[in-house]
Amino acid sequence: MNKRAFLKKIGLLGLLPLLPFKNYASTMKKEIPEISFDADSWESIRADYKLKPDYINLEGGYYCMLPQTILKKYQNNIERINYEHSFFMRKMMETEKEKVLKGLAEFLDCNAEELIITRNTTESLDTVMSGIDWKKGDEVIYAVQEYGSMIEMLKQLSDRYGIVLREISIPLDPKDDEEILDLYKKQLNRKTKLILVSHMINITGQILPVKELCTIAHHHNVEVLVDGAHCIGHFEFKISDLGCDYYGSSLHKWLSVPLGIGLLYVNKNKINKIWPLLGDAAIKKDDIRKLNHTGTIPFAANLTILDAIDFINKIGPLRKEERLRELKAYWVEKLKKLNNPRIQLNCPSDPKRSCAIANVGIEGLKPAELADKLLNDYKIWTVAIDSANVHGIRVTPNVYTTFEELDQLVYAIKDLAEKS
Ligand SMILES: Cc1ncc(COP(=O)(O)O)c(C=O)c1O
Repeated sequence: MNKRAFLKKIGLLGLLPLLPFKNYASTMKKEIPEISFDADSWESIRADYKLKPDYINLEGGYYCMLPQTILKKYQNNIERINYEHSFFMRKMMETEKEKVLKGLAEFLDCNAEELIITRNTTESLDTVMSGIDWKKGDEVIYAVQEYGSMIEMLKQLSDRYGIVLREISIPLDPKDDEEILDLYKKQLNRKTKLILVSHMINITGQILPVKELCTIAHHHNVEVLVDGAHCIGHFEFKISDLGCDYYGSSLHKWLSVPLGIGLLYVNKNKINKIWPLLGDAAIKKDDIRKLNHTGTIPFAANLTILDAIDFINKIGPLRKEERLRELKAYWVEKLKKLNNPRIQLNCPSDPKRSCAIANVGIEGLKPAELADKLLNDYKIWTVAIDSANVHGIRVTPNVYTTFEELDQLVYAIKDLAEKS
């Protein structure tokens, strides 16, 4: 029985014109009223974040809490997909996905055909590392300061394929870029296949000369995979300027996108070479979408990428970067001026080699003890770092941080260095 005959039989034919299937656009009213803020005022930007009064939050490096403006839009996106149900997934998602990619590519000034949205940096980098056609004896250069799970992945590949891992250690306060680049140059040989490098080292906030490294690597026919977990929405750069082959980032860190959103950039000439992690034989080998076989995902978070881009564009990405540098410099310079030999600043002295993140330790105090004392005695929330020759707490202010809060940090570190 066809649909018309079936409806006639059950007496519903008269209702047909009332059925709302003609219009595919969402008809849902915004359930949660949206709010706005004054992007010119740092006080107003701060007021847009619901900050816990229990402590001063200097741990924005893990991920960025959503300002209320973005949170409301996210909630509305959740409502919308819940309301549209599978109709959204089947009829609307692909178009929306393209819109989001286009918006993201515009924001990053790169090609949408070279981007996919992933869950995070881990997924992005592992997609590349597991998709390379490794041969026994291929070599990879990386630094001991890379994020732990990336090193774990390389070790797994070494066990599986017999690739050789060459580890270097990046000096915290190099006199120039050459000092860093020379370390990589010394490890390069005709078996080198890949360099894994952090654009920003997460434990100290140090920014590395990735563009110059890519030039050297390409000269030796070596590809570069960049761990940019902390960079997008943090400081200004263009992926295309770096000239890297692969770039992964977590957008939930500095772009204030809901948790579980990252990106992977693959240079269009390299897409062909990467095997998908999740089976996809239907998409052409040189189409990046073959690397994005996700299954069903919480797409409301993906939709919110465009809202987060709106938010940062209102503030101005460069203005945000300058503010973050100013906040970092404020407390670091105050501590430097104390000239207390027990206070160890674990960050490059050249301001262009870092942005918001820096690290400080106190001689004789274990990082975990320092973090605990800061939280319990001074109500300051940070994270302890005790690896790769870095012993201290990571301090990460964000656009909601005030100078008065940083004065509290300076007071606490001074106090602890003098008395503990
Ligand atoms: C440098 C670096 N790479 C990768 C990651 C992993 O990020 P995610 O957990 O979002 O995948 C982090 C997380 O903090 C990081 O700092």
